[in-house]
Amino acid sequence: MRNVDFYKRFDVDMSPVVKTGHNPYYHQVQAGLTDEIMIDGEWFVDLASNNYLGIANHPELKKASKEAIDKYGASMCATPVASGYTDLHHRVEERIAAFTGTEKALIYPSCYQANLGLFPAIANSEDIALVDKCAHSSLLEGLKNSGCKLSPFRHNDMDYLEMLLKNSRPHRTVFVVTESVFSTEGTIAAFREINDLSLKYGAIPVVDDSHGIGVLGDSGKGILEYAGIADYQGVYTASLGKALANMGGVICGKAPMLQWMKYYSSNLVYSTSVLPSILAGVDKALDLVETGFPELSKRMWGAKRYVENALVEAGFNLTNGRAPITSIKAGDITATIRLAKKFWDARIMTTPFVYPSVPPTEGRIRLIAGANMREETLRRVKDAVREMNR
Ligand SMILES: Cc1ncc(COP(=O)(O)O)c(C=O)c1O
Repeated sequence: MRNVDFYKRFDVDMSPVVKTGHNPYYHQVQAGLTDEIMIDGEWFVDLASNNYLGIANHPELKKASKEAIDKYGASMCATPVASGYTDLHHRVEERIAAFTGTEKALIYPSCYQANLGLFPAIANSEDIALVDKCAHSSLLEGLKNSGCKLSPFRHNDMDYLEMLLKNSRPHRTVFVVTESVFSTEGTIAAFREINDLSLKYGAIPVVDDSHGIGVLGDSGKGILEYAGIADYQGVYTASLGKALANMGGVICGKAPMLQWMKYYSSNLVYSTSVLPSILAGVDKALDLVETGFPELSKRMWGAKRYVENALVEAGFNLTNGRAPITSIKAGDITATIRLAKKFWDARIMTTPFVYPSVPPTEGRIRLIAGANMREETLRRVKDAVREMNR
């Protein structure tokens, strides 16, 4: 009897899918990532992936990954602490630290895993984390796993944060935790202020720059460059699977903490190391950013503005994010999926966010137009959205 009850717990509510006749999740992509992806044998405009710089299909990047397979094999079949750590891991760690403006970097299998592993390795119940209420699930899960106290602050509200900082002094360590670019809203954290407030109250800032690395700043170096922060005293994490067009995650920061993580962060120590082919891809992506960022960024922002203007002209209600993410306020779960279906029917792939990723009535349709968007593709989008809201 008990096992029957157990399996009854896992009843996913599919009623919005039934009502709208559309399931926007887990489509099988058969080819990509140009500015289109193929699904069920048909080409869709790709406004869903985080391919900000449009380099995921770059011939040099693909070549670098293939050559690394020839040299190292498909996998190291080992954790980094054992025999999984290659010269490529070391090289990319050094490059990422130099690129982001931090002292040291460590590569994790993903940024989710990095955020999950970070807090249990550095915090416990004597500590408190003041967290932006829109922070990513991986930061929240990592914090929960550490047992430290959690105190959310209103999104990007610096007065509220300062009030919390004043009241948090009795704790051993106070962390201030935020994303740089908020992935569902496209808003950018007031990170200069967060960093200054953290220094003022002796707190440790922690920023997840997954949507900022390769995107923000005059040369794409991310949030620290964008906010003009030198000699950063806090912790920095980022995904290598978005603008840098590969996969994996990094934790960066001061050398002693990173040395500690290297031996005591179980999410790193006990997990198979990132494939060398991926790191060769990251290495090449960094070359492409370092040499081509002005042109790539111009194209990325041009595409973002084009899509945003088209949506505004067509009467869509957008969040006021300033990052190259355009987000439509779509309403409750059913309304959000219904709108995703309209894009789908127009052969445009988007990312719908519904509860629990966002509050129940604050669904979002996220669109990311990368630097690889062709003019004719953008025109297709404009024509389609004009028709959609008639
Ligand atoms: C803000 C943020 N942090 C972390 C992650 C997880 O990154 P990864 O895909 O490398 O696990 C994501 C990805 O969705 C993200 O948007």
